[in-house]
Parts: sequence; C-alpha cells; structure tokens
Amino acid sequence: MKKTPLFLFYIMLLTLPLMAQINETGLRENAPFKKEVDSVLSLMTLEEKIGQLAQLSGNGEVTGPVTLNNQYQEAIRKGEVGSMLNINSASYTRKIQKIAVEETRLGIPLLFGYDVIHGYKTIFPVPLGESSSWDLEAIEKSARIAAVEATAAGQHWTFAPMVDIARDPRWGRIMEGAGEDPFLGSAVAKARVRGFQGNDLGQKNTMLACAKHFVGYGAARAGRDYNTVDMSKRMLYEVYLPPFKAAVEADVATFMTSFNELNGVPVTGSKKHVKGILRDEWNYDGLIVSDWASVMEQVIHGSAKDLKEAADYAMNATVDMDMEGKAYVPFMKELLDEGKVSEKQIDAAVRRILHKKFELGLFDDPYRYCDEEREKEVTLTPEHREAARDVARKSMVLLKNDNVLPFSKKVKKVAVIGPLADAKNEMIGTWSAQGEGKDAVSLLEGLQNALPDADINFVKACEVEGHDKSGFDKALKAAEKADIVIAAVGEKAMMSGEALSRMDIKLPGVQEDLVLELAKLDKPLAVVLFNGRPLVITEVAKKAPAILESWLPGTEAGNAIADVLFGDYNPSGKLTVTFPYALGQVPVFYSHKHTGRPRTEARYTSKYIDGPNEPLYPFGYGLSYTTFEYSNLKLSTKKLNEGETLTVSVNLKNTGKYDGEEVVQLYVRDLVGSVTRPVKELKGFEKVSLKAGEEKTITFELKTEDLAFYNRDWEWTTEPGEFHVFVGGNSKETIEAEFSLVD
Ligand code: GLC
Repeated sequence: MKKTPLFLFYIMLLTLPLMAQINETGLRENAPFKKEVDSVLSLMTLEEKIGQLAQLSGNGEVTGPVTLNNQYQEAIRKGEVGSMLNINSASYTRKIQKIAVEETRLGIPLLFGYDVIHGYKTIFPVPLGESSSWDLEAIEKSARIAAVEATAAGQHWTFAPMVDIARDPRWGRIMEGAGEDPFLGSAVAKARVRGFQGNDLGQKNTMLACAKHFVGYGAARAGRDYNTVDMSKRMLYEVYLPPFKAAVEADVATFMTSFNELNGVPVTGSKKHVKGILRDEWNYDGLIVSDWASVMEQVIHGSAKDLKEAADYAMNATVDMDMEGKAYVPFMKELLDEGKVSEKQIDAAVRRILHKKFELGLFDDPYRYCDEEREKEVTLTPEHREAARDVARKSMVLLKNDNVLPFSKKVKKVAVIGPLADAKNEMIGTWSAQGEGKDAVSLLEGLQNALPDADINFVKACEVEGHDKSGFDKALKAAEKADIVIAAVGEKAMMSGEALSRMDIKLPGVQEDLVLELAKLDKPLAVVLFNGRPLVITEVAKKAPAILESWLPGTEAGNAIADVLFGDYNPSGKLTVTFPYALGQVPVFYSHKHTGRPRTEARYTSKYIDGPNEPLYPFGYGLSYTTFEYSNLKLSTKKLNEGETLTVSVNLKNTGKYDGEEVVQLYVRDLVGSVTRPVKELKGFEKVSLKAGEEKTITFELKTEDLAFYNRDWEWTTEPGEFHVFVGGNSKETIEAEFSLVD
C-alpha cells in the first residue's frame, strides 16, 4: 500500500497558509483586478457590502416560487441587490442597470444571470441528448453559440453547466446533465465551461459559467426532485464530485449550491462540503451562489431554526450570494454584531462578487452587454440554426434497426403517426430560455422539407397522455396505405426538467399500444422517440423494427431527424445513461460492483426472479448504418511500473457500406483492491470517422494515476495487481486484454 511520500506532506503543510490566505481575503493573491476590487471595497459602507450579497429575480421568467412584482427595482435603488436573474433583453437589462449605476451612491453595476442551459434563442438538444454525441467540440460550440446570443441580450452569467451525475431516470433533471458517468461527465463539464467562458471573460460575447448544483442533487432518493440525499463519502468523491472538480480545472467562474440535504445537512448551509471541499481542498476562489431560496429553505428542511440561523450557516459555508432567499440582507448585520460572522468574511464574499464584475469589464462600461443592434444581428441566425441541426443529428442514438433505415428519399407515400409529429413546442424541451416553439421545425415539417414531392399523411392518433384510442383506426388505415411509417412518440417537454420527476417511465398514455398496433402491420416502421430521460420501452423494442432516440432535439428538430432517417447523416450517438429493462432495476448503471454472488443460474446469486439484471440498452450503446469491427487489441506492456504510461492500441474497421463515426470507448477493471472496485470504469474515448471499408489504429495512453482511487485508509493511491482493459463501441460489447501494475 503506497503512502504519501514525506516530502509531499511538508509541501502541503507549507501551502496551508496560502490556502488560508485565499479564505481570508476571498481571492488568490495574484488574482487579476485585486487592487481595483480592494479600492472599491474600501469605499463601501457595511450596508452597501451586504447589499452585494443578494440576488433577486425579475419577471422575465419564473424559474422558482416567486411572487411576480417590481419591488426589486426599489431594492436596487436602496443598494440591496448585487445581481438580478431573469431580466431579459438588451433594452430591459439596460433599463435595470441604469437604476444601479445612476441611482445608487457608488453606482456598482449589477450582474445579470439567466438559465442558458441548451441555447438562448437558437435551442440545441437538451443536454442529456447533446452529451450522447460524445463530441466535445460540438458540445463546446453549442455553449459558445448560446453565449454569443445570450450576451448580446444583456446576460453576463449563465447558470450552466449542470454537472450533476444522474443514475435515476425518474428524476426529471436527468435531462439537464451528461448522464451517469463521472469520466464523461467531467469531459463534458469542461467543454461546456470553455464554450460559455471562451478564453477571455473580458470579451463581450463571453459569460460567466456556473457549475451546478453542488453537490449530490442527482442522487435524490427515489428520483423525486428535491428529495433527501444520503451517500457514502466514497460515492461522493468517486462519482458525484469529479465533474465539479473538472469544472474548477476548466476555471469555471461560479458555482451554485444545491437544494438537497446531503447526509443530514442541506448543502447550501454545509461548511463541511462547500467551504471544506470547494475552498479548502480545491482552493476555489470563484463566486458561489445559492440555488433559488436554498439559504432560506434550511428552515423548511428543519436544520436552521430561522432565517438568521440559515444565513449564518450559509455565510460560514462561504456561499457568497443568496438567490431569492432574502436571508442575507435582513440578517447579516445582526450576525456581525453577534460575532457569528466577521467583516472579513463579508469582505471576502464581496470581493469575489466585485471580482466577477471587473472581469466582465462592467466597471469600465456597465452597458457593454446591452447592445440592441448586436442582439438583433446575432440571434437565431441561419448559421446558428445550422449548428443546432448539426449537434442534434450527432446527438441522436440509433437503438434498433432491422434493415429498415435509412429510408430511401424515393418513397412516395409516408405515414407520420403520433402526438409528437407536429408538436413544435415540445421540440425545445424545458430550460429553453428565450427559445420559442414557433421557431422550431417539427418532425412533420422536417419530412416535408426532405421529401417535397412525397405524399406525407399525418395522423395524430392519440394525445401524449390519456387513454383515448379512438384515433388509432384512422392511423392504422393511413399506415396501411403508406410505403413507410414513422411513429413520433414520447414525452412532452414539461415531462422532464425541474420538479418533473415521473414514477412510471414508460411511454405516457396509450402511445406504446399505438406503436405495437403499427408494428403488427409489418410495414417499414421507424419509431422516433422524443424524451428527456431514459424510458422503459422494452415491449416497443421487441416489436418495432427500428427505433431512433432523438431526445428533445431543439429548434432544428425535424430537419435533423429527417437527415438521419433518410441517410444524409449516419447516426453516431451513444447513450450516456442506461436504459433500464424495467423500472424495478433502477438504479442500474454500467460501472456497478461485482458483489460476492454475481448472477448465475444457481439460486443463491444476485438476480431478479422475474427479469434480467442486464438493462435494455447499456451505457455507451448506439448503432450506425454501417458496422465496425474491433481487432488486434495491444498493450505496450503486460507489466506496468508505477509512474509509467500504458499505450493501448486497437484496430477499428468500417466493415459496412456507409461512411460513419464510431465512439471508441476504453474501460478498465481493477480486479482486486483494498476496497471493491467497479466491474468497468470509462477511462478514455475517441469519436472516429471512417469511410466504408477504411481501417484505422486507435491508441489511448493510460497513466498509473488514472488507476488511482481512495483505498481502505482513504488515501488517494494506486495498488499493485491485475487489471483488465476493455475496448469497444459500448460498455457491454468489448474486446479485452490484461496487464498487471507492479510496485
Ligand atoms: C432553479 C434551479 C436552478 C436555476 C435557478 C435559477 O430553481 O434549481 O438550476 O439555475 O433556480 O433559475
């Protein structure tokens, strides 16, 4: 068992005062604008400092339990607001900014925040869909375009990326993240932060990103939003924290604390988790904002007796800004007088807030983002639409294809059946900012665009919800007469997202029956799914010959789906979250433990007597119109010494007749550890384009630190022993090799 070398220990001791320094002043010694921040701070009264700690919501959007009114304008005049959210448009942000700049003593500009989650006006696929592209460039570009549009409309700060790991498809907010895996989630987190922040926050088209919701929110018990979270330190550090750590490594400007309690303490008031991990362990000196009223909600949780105590806990956890909690402004002075909070702590929080305003150039020109000309110029442009169509195509996952797809464009008669075929508003999902359904391309419109001369017959057949099957007859008749049939089924936008958990994750209403009836006609049938979470589609998967997971594809939905259905784009998406065989398997995910009695046919083993352990579709799964063959997996050595790098190479051949892209995935298993280790862990991936018949050698570099984990004594270390390496196009179908790590 390797210990931390002594000299490293002394280095850690030496840096402690520096870390303490960050906590006391609030910023790193070498932080840019530190002098400017200090000079503004020195001019401020205590009331003005406390005023900076509040964030209030405007009426541009209702994203939380708020009473719609304009009292916030009076609060701004009184110097009691440091930031606003949900104030939309260049003109409106200019109007509100003027109050802060021209009607308060020091004229400190406001920060404007908004939930730009998957696009501002041009809407991209919901983030869970986008992550299924495994295309970090595309994901970064999507965030970049969102930032260009949002900043032109006055927004300084997006409350994204949401980086919560989610392994329970009942949880509605699974649609907002990058799925179940910390390695992929970390890569996507970095790509999204880069996209929003660019490489210079001083540029007018870059904005503050926000890693949220710190931490553990996706593990809400039973998938019910805002519910209790209880997990081991190991689960926290090995699964839920890594994407947040990755965001810090990508220099994310801000963090948002979560609603949930974690092991008995609401995170927003948890000094152990927020100060202890973010500030002390990770040295993070960015701005931390609470989630909506989560400071106040400690009282409702029952962990704070009143608002004052709630403010005490959150401030001592180093949460800098109170979003709509209305706890900091009324009680911070009292907490100071009672010695519960020091002026040093208040100064540290105010420094971190002022620092962001300097970084964005708001002290130079508070109106630099309020540019109505630019707003018109850069919003919902053809280029942005084309980019949204491209990301949507790349996000789609072909789940099944029994020689049905791609359809030929020569077809004459097309039947489009189902409640989501002509549903523009549903295409953009929730958290769609200023996106509008009227701008979205429905599946029906996409098909009409792709097949201008075909006879396209649309029959809704049923609603998304409800039990009325009276429309089935007309649908079946239309399908009978058609050359091809496309079923458009799934969830409405408002069936995934915040406070939108579902206890039954099958297709809602009678949609499954509709698909099964269509499948009986034995026609070339493709089922197109619209959903923000994994669904239990086991019966559909048995009967329908082709299934395309399109997620909620955004503004260019119909065009992107048509591109895939008719082969203008060969689908390349891979699931980033497991599709369960049955809800009873949940939580089910690929990087599970082996247990002491893994499933066999014997009685006393870990299994269900009424179904499989295996999910319907595993993490990393997705088909193509072509086929790929993996061979010749080679390791640079069979014995890896500590500190060395293992090179893993594999041949990949496109053995089909279509050019295509494959996400080559690298997994590792540590067979024996001082604690049990998962049966597989993703440690690398590469999206590769291959022409039909083309072959390439793909290589990965695996460092020994990639094999590290917290051992039985909670030391971050590697342990010698046997390892398996797996490479393939999903987490289940792989080829493997072995190596041993030697001391
Ligand atoms: C919401 C969400 C959070 C969002 C915030 C502001 O309740 O939990 O993700 O950023 O409030 O809208």
